[in-house]
Amino acid sequence: MAEIMKIRNISKNFGGIAAVKDLSFDIYEGETLGFIGPNGAGKSTVVNLLSGYLDTDAGSIEMNGMDITKMKPYQRAHLGLSRTYQIPRPFPELTALTSVATSAICGKKRYNQSFEDSLVEATHYLEFVGLFSKRSILARDLTFYELRMLELARALATTPRLLFIDEVMAGLNPGEAKDAIRMIERAKNDFGITIFWIEHVMAVLMEAADRIVAINHGEKLAEGTPEEVVNNEAVIEAYLGRGWKTYA
Ligand SMILES: Nc1ncnc2c1ncn2[C@@H]1O[C@H](COP(=O)(O)OP(=O)(O)O)[C@@H](O)[C@H]1O
Ligand SMILES: [Mg+2]
Repeated sequence: MAEIMKIRNISKNFGGIAAVKDLSFDIYEGETLGFIGPNGAGKSTVVNLLSGYLDTDAGSIEMNGMDITKMKPYQRAHLGLSRTYQIPRPFPELTALTSVATSAICGKKRYNQSFEDSLVEATHYLEFVGLFSKRSILARDLTFYELRMLELARALATTPRLLFIDEVMAGLNPGEAKDAIRMIERAKNDFGITIFWIEHVMAVLMEAADRIVAINHGEKLAEGTPEEVVNNEAVIEAYLGRGWKTYA
């Protein structure tokens, strides 16, 4: 399998805290790669580094063989990178439809696309995530689940090849969580997107992930198939504990 992203020896310090330390791994084209670790392990920081919201202190990031280490987020977006946030970041005063249309315009190198065309495009993504009937509602009036789906629609509207998902289940009830997982799997299959997925609920990644990378204190603990990673002693010690299956 070809790598869509190659991460080599990246590090990030916040003041005296080493949030990410000399971390290397690959994301393969077409896979769902799970990313796990305890709270504060550095998972969201890694997503921020890979998507360009933070600069790395050291190391390199390649996408499709191109060095993107110093690229701005919008440049990475134009190469096909998109993300959702752990805490949704809507434009509160925009309607659901306009929010998605804005992503459709900004996420691509289509400066000649009219806003009307973007609205039509946005309609399709709202339909996809089940928010068509909410298209005229202001983002600030959506429920938490709807905001999560709006985030997904906004990410998809940039037509990503690689999508980072940061804890989509957090704050959802079990029924909503199930819908959210199904939605991500459908997005992956329908649009052929590679997924890099941070998730606390291990059972989700056991089902959905092809491989998992586990980190702790910003360093890699283990990498392999879900089976291999959940049976890894260091992962059990630092994160899962024994008997994680009982929480599924
Ligand atoms: N912007 C920031 N400024 C200072 N410290 C930060 C910042 N973002 C994260 N950290 C710290 O970096 C460490 C890793 O955090 P984070 O990447 O959010 O972990 P995770 O997503 O795995 O829970 C934590 O100690 C956190 O407090
Ligand atoms: Mg996080």
